[in-house]
Amino acid sequence: MFDVPGAQRKLLSVVGARPQFIKAAMLSRTLAREAPGLTHLHLHTGQHYSPEMAEIFFDELDYHPDFDLKVGSGTHAYQTGKALIEIEKVLQDERPDLVIVYGDTNATLAGALAAVKLHIPVAHVEAGLRSFNRGMPEEINRIVTDAVSEILFCPTPTAVSNLKKEGRKDGVVHTGDILLDTLNYFLPRAHETSDVLDRLALNDQPFWLLTTHRPSNVDDENKLGMIIKAFIREDRPRIIFPCHPRTAKTLDKLSSHDLDNIDVIPPVSYLDMLVLEEHAQLILTYSGGVQREAYFLGRSCLTLREETEWPETLEGGWNYLVGTDPDTIIKAIDRIRVPEESPDLEAFEAGKATERMQEGILKALGL
Ligand code: UD1
Ligand code: UDP
Repeated sequence: MFDVPGAQRKLLSVVGARPQFIKAAMLSRTLAREAPGLTHLHLHTGQHYSPEMAEIFFDELDYHPDFDLKVGSGTHAYQTGKALIEIEKVLQDERPDLVIVYGDTNATLAGALAAVKLHIPVAHVEAGLRSFNRGMPEEINRIVTDAVSEILFCPTPTAVSNLKKEGRKDGVVHTGDILLDTLNYFLPRAHETSDVLDRLALNDQPFWLLTTHRPSNVDDENKLGMIIKAFIREDRPRIIFPCHPRTAKTLDKLSSHDLDNIDVIPPVSYLDMLVLEEHAQLILTYSGGVQREAYFLGRSCLTLREETEWPETLEGGWNYLVGTDPDTIIKAIDRIRVPEESPDLEAFEAGKATERMQEGILKALGL
């Protein structure tokens, strides 16, 4: 891709939201080790900014972005547009050889568009994922980001196949899932340092873990109240609910009686989250990341959606799509059994994703 082999190269990662800090921290660690001469800058758009959505990860993962554009919250157009304008300025100053974007947020889209318009090639981590639901803003972000990216790092065979069906072949690399590498790398540290079970008095006590932040589930208090009611029953264990700020705003409108049995807590750090996931009897989530982590850790999971970009997690009875209808959720909870067979991690290429991304990046940079 570049014609001066051996010359000093510069990479720039664009991040903005919680799951991106986690993945970029992992990739950055590997690249720094294997290619010490390579400059790797990190730009945070500022989409997530509350301490429990940002600093907590920077401190714990020792990940410190070089730029914070402080874009903050707003409509999709505002968030994407403001980030696009501000990212362009940094790219014009820094002139990186390659821009890396992660996932499917507004920061991903803005980073990819800003770079490609300046003729800077883009590598997309978590390319090829599709929900086939264009009502989700993330689906639009994925389609557009993939369309303008030169290197498409696909986490699963399904992602590769989705791109193939769209006519994409060049630049497609089946890497495996960086979130699995990240989990494998940080889990031992979580065991050493996290005291979350003590803090929440959960030792030896069964509990369920709930996370949700999908606008269509959580922006309307009646809908959120209905979903939550499906989980509450006297004979059920405590439910730990690390609550995304989007969801917290709506929960404030529900009465405390509606939340009986549910421990609503602020979002937790990544290491605490891994320990909670590992010990939860059941995980209830909307999140793409939490769904996979449940599968990697062999925990039963109900996904509160009608579709998933991660169909591999539905194999073997570990993850069920239950939507948001309370009756369907209740029936699924009553039917759930822990499968005898362990989850099959083959499709996620355990442990190889970061290494393959690094190979792809160094090759693209002529190093
Ligand atoms: C975003 C991503 C979603 C991803 C999620 C990860 C888009 C379109 N959505 O959703 O794909 O799964 O991040 O967590 O990019 N807020 C705060 N403090 C913060 C951040 C947000 O209070 O640090 C509140 C604000 O009221 C904001 C709301 O949460 O309006 C939603 O935040 P936003 O970043 O727009 O979307 P997420 O729901 O976080
Ligand atoms: N996560 C976390 N603390 C929390 C909730 C989630 O560290 O309180 C981690 C989780 O372990 C996973 C990632 O954040 O690695 C998932 O992010 P999120 O659910 O916000 O976004 P999604 O994956 O749905 O895009």
